[in-house]
Amino acid sequence: MSIAITGSTGAIGGAVLQKFEALGGAAILIGRDATTLADGHDNRQATYGDAVAMTAALRSVDTLFFVSGRESATRLAEHLTVVRSAQDAGVSRIVYLSFLGAAADSTFTLGRHHWFTEQAIRESGLAFAFLRDSLYQDYLPFMTGDDGVIRGPAGDGRLSAVARNDVADVAATILRADDIGDRVHDGRSYDITGPEAITLAEVAAELQRVTGRPVSFVNETEAEAYASRAKFHAPAFEVEGWVTSYQSIAEGEMSMVSGDVESVIGRPPTRFAEFLAAHPESYAHLV
Ligand SMILES: NC(=O)c1ccc[n+]([C@@H]2O[C@H](COP(=O)([O-])OP(=O)(O)OC[C@H]3O[C@@H](n4cnc5c(N)ncnc54)[C@H](OP(=O)(O)O)[C@@H]3O)[C@@H](O)[C@H]2O)c1
Repeated sequence: MSIAITGSTGAIGGAVLQKFEALGGAAILIGRDATTLADGHDNRQATYGDAVAMTAALRSVDTLFFVSGRESATRLAEHLTVVRSAQDAGVSRIVYLSFLGAAADSTFTLGRHHWFTEQAIRESGLAFAFLRDSLYQDYLPFMTGDDGVIRGPAGDGRLSAVARNDVADVAATILRADDIGDRVHDGRSYDITGPEAITLAEVAAELQRVTGRPVSFVNETEAEAYASRAKFHAPAFEVEGWVTSYQSIAEGEMSMVSGDVESVIGRPPTRFAEFLAAHPESYAHLV
């Protein structure tokens, strides 16, 4: 089988490449700047929004590991271009990095892109597997402000955050199965979560424990959340994505704990406390 990986210059795609190769696979790499791709592979250049380049890059590819693009106002259109390009190029299946609870009306506005991308893949008639990732544990320390406060309208909602390393293990296992002709993952939608659902107050307590400095969670109102983020002068879609991610936690849309990681890779996913113990660099900026 011919397997192509996008996003390999990033955290998930890079880890998937490494793990897939460790399992014996060989990958074609597709990136928006071919000079940044790892040497020693069949490297091809295309951005998600460029149908001509993406169709050319996908020629001879059987399975595409499709890392969702950086959040932007045009991300959904770019994703739909990738799906059409895959069809045009004769790709057989797409393994898509989606988001937990993706729905047309997700509270988390950026989660809606994932739903419409999944729908386009289903409608394309290609085989698929969806990895519906919860929020990354790796990201939680970066939700803490310089003042040691995690603030947002999440209330006492729970979050089944997952380690990026676990996501990459799942993806590499699925790609390797495809590679050797095992179709067991075709048509499956996996909920990629950690082993527990924790509140942001509990996240703050864990961060306080490991950093030895005060870390707390402050539950903001929606108006307070928009006001406290105004200083970043970010585009409206992005600020809305930030605020609604907390509201999605409050609504319980990121709280599902699934057994899918263990069912695919044969070991339980990492707890947040275990992640912090193994990755002190993840919170070094708070110490
Ligand atoms: N579950 C979560 O908590 C969470 C949090 C943040 C983001 N995400 C989503 O998960 C994805 C993977 O996460 P990550 O941590 O691996 O992100 P990352 O380290 O930022 O890597 C993203 C990768 O995707 C590539 N990429 C982004 N937009 C692209 C485009 N329009 N065309 C071609 N390539 C593009 C980047 O290429 P370049 O090197 O060219 O930039 C990079 O290789 C993110 O892109 C985002 O959609 C999930």
